[in-house]
Formats: sequence, C-alpha cells, structure tokens
Amino acid sequence: MNLPVAFDQFEYLSIAPGRVNMLGEHIDYNGGSVLPAAIDRYVYLGANKSNDQIIKITALDLDQTISFRIDQIEKKIDIQGNPLPEWSLYPAGVFWAAAKQNLRISGFEGIITSTIPMGTGLSSSAAVEVAFAALMREFCSWDIDNLELAKICQMAENQYIGVNCGLMDQFASANGVQNSLLFFNTTTLDWFPVELPDNVTIVITNSKISRALSTSAYNERRRSCEKALIDLQKTYPGRSNLCQISISEFEEIENELEETLHKRAKHVVNECNRVNQAINFLKDNMLVEFGELMKASHNSLRDLYEVSTPELDFMVSIANNIDGCYGSRLTGAGFGGCIVSLVKTESVNKYVKELESTYLKKTGKEIETYVCKASEGVTVQWHELTASYVD
Ligand code: GLA
Repeated sequence: MNLPVAFDQFEYLSIAPGRVNMLGEHIDYNGGSVLPAAIDRYVYLGANKSNDQIIKITALDLDQTISFRIDQIEKKIDIQGNPLPEWSLYPAGVFWAAAKQNLRISGFEGIITSTIPMGTGLSSSAAVEVAFAALMREFCSWDIDNLELAKICQMAENQYIGVNCGLMDQFASANGVQNSLLFFNTTTLDWFPVELPDNVTIVITNSKISRALSTSAYNERRRSCEKALIDLQKTYPGRSNLCQISISEFEEIENELEETLHKRAKHVVNECNRVNQAINFLKDNMLVEFGELMKASHNSLRDLYEVSTPELDFMVSIANNIDGCYGSRLTGAGFGGCIVSLVKTESVNKYVKELESTYLKKTGKEIETYVCKASEGVTVQWHELTASYVD
C-alpha cells in the first residue's frame, strides 16, 4: 500500500486487517467454533500522542475531521457539543469500553484510511476498532493481550454502538496469522492457527449490494437463538448455548420448536458440526470435502437462517460451477455483502474472469473480486518523524 504522504507527520502507525470467515457463520454468539482469517486489506491509522484530553481524528476517505473530549465520550458529542458522526463512534466506543475497564486513555491526533471495502461483511468496522485499541494500548502501556483487546472492541460494538455481535471479527483482526485460518472456540476462547495449503487461494467477491437493515435483522437473529435455547433447555437443562446440543439431541425434539426458532437453531447446531468436521478435512488436505461443507453452509444460511440475498445465491451458484472452485458461501452476517470461495491457486485468474463475466452477462451488473492472502493481525510501528512510511 502506498500510504498518503500525510502519514509522515505521525510517529505511530497502527495497521489492522479486515477478516473473512471461511466457515461457522452466526455461531460465534452461540458458543460455536469459527474459522476466520485476517485478510490483506487494512485500516491504517497514523497518530501522535498529545498532552491534553482531546482526541482529534481525520478520516481521509471521508474527508472529515472530528475532535472530542475524553470526558465527553459517554455523551457521544464532539467539542462543539454536536452529535458524533457515525464513523467516529467506533474509536469513541473503544475508548469508552476501555475506560469502563479502568484503562487509561490519552489525547492524540491522528489520521485514518482504509483498503477494506466498507459495509460488505469484511469487518471494516472491527478493523477500525482494533487499530484504535492497539494504538491506545501502545500510548498508555495497557498490559493486555490481543484477545483482551478484541473483547474491549466487542464491548464497544455491543454497548456503545448497539450491534450485538460476537467476538469473531475483532478476534481475527487482532490475532490473524499469515497463510492461516484461525480455529477459534468462542466458548473457551482457545484458538490455534491452521495453515492453508499453498495450492489454494481465498477469493472474495463483492455483490455491491449494501446490507440494508442489517443491524436490526442481526440482533433479531440473535434473539431467536436465545429463545430457541430457552425452549431446548426444558429437555436439556444445563446447556448454556445452542452449540452444546448435538445434532441427534436436536433431532429428537426439534418438532417441539416454533417454526422460525426451529430453522434458526437447526442452522446453528449443524453449522457447529460443520466447523468441527472442516478442521480435520483441512489438516488432511481434503479440500473437496472442505468445499462441500462451505456449500452446505451457504444453503443453510439461505434456507434456515435466511440471511442471504438473491444476488449472493446467484454468485455462489455460478462460482460453484467454475472449474477449480472447491466451494463458495456468503461470508459475514449476510443481508448483502460478499461471498468467499476456496479456489485452486492455478485456476484463480480464470475463475475470477468467468465469475465476473457470467454475472455481468446474466444480470447486467458488475461485481468486484478481491484475491486475498491470510495475513497477520494488528501491528503498531513507531518511526522518527524524519523517516517516511511512504515508499
Ligand atoms: C458479523 C458479526 C460476527 C458474526 C458474523 C456472523 O460479522 O460481527 O460477530 O456473528 O456477523 O457469523
């Protein structure tokens, strides 16, 4: 990335990646294990620490600057008393959550730019949160690891922004490992990297359909899971989340659930199982089998969890018929956004051309493809002001 020259005025550079989820969708708030990767699309945050209580941030991509006082973060207002614009709620929320954890916050001035397409299910907002959190950890010597850092960002999202998300996105942006998927158990919070074979490539395709009503629909899905759990606990007391119920246990009593709750819970129980199977397939290089799980996951998200769109379904069906594609599915929350495919590296160019041209021919609409590498998580660099970040 050629950073804008303005970054040279800043001593610190915090870089946080977006993420793609390969398998395990909508189960990070149901106690399941997920398989995301950090991707080589990033938020770049340049900053200098100040001695006052003011945080001033310029969002280069939006051409907007905002200043707010640390002691007014709770009120969500800037130094003039106006409501904070939406994009600035992410950093403000991180500092709010950190302060609630008794972590110190310092004033600073910074600029931010991003190569993660916004609002497409690639966690551009989690990357913003993680970039600011890692910067403040550096400024104020917080003694916390990347997992704790991710939790602060999730708390910001849940309690300050109002999206009841799980921990997957912030976790992946903070803990990414090069060339690896991250097997992350959202109950125990244990995780390990699983290296991707080098003959396969992650390819993401953006439907360019923005995710309408995604916050309310997302929160509503989560509530349905909570209700289904309460019903299932009547038979299986002591289970604290849906992923603790096996497929056979679920099948024994599934007919007792109300129709919508039944569909949501069925997705969750089976998706948990798919991730546990996938990990073995991946270790044994059984990519065809892994791809089949991705396809099954998409069908379940479409029919049971009902978070797909006709555009995503159509992209997935084209993708799955192209030579060299092991499997495709929608990635992230859904309701628009992107699909992810696992593609033979030697077929990537042909795959991208065929997917884009078939979609254009059949719909008259353009889609956008990102060939990605699994990447490392957040980093913070420091340099003398006389040096340059810019190539
Ligand atoms: C969003 C949320 C995540 C996760 C996914 C769906 O990306 O932020 O926590 O729930 O949706 O898997």
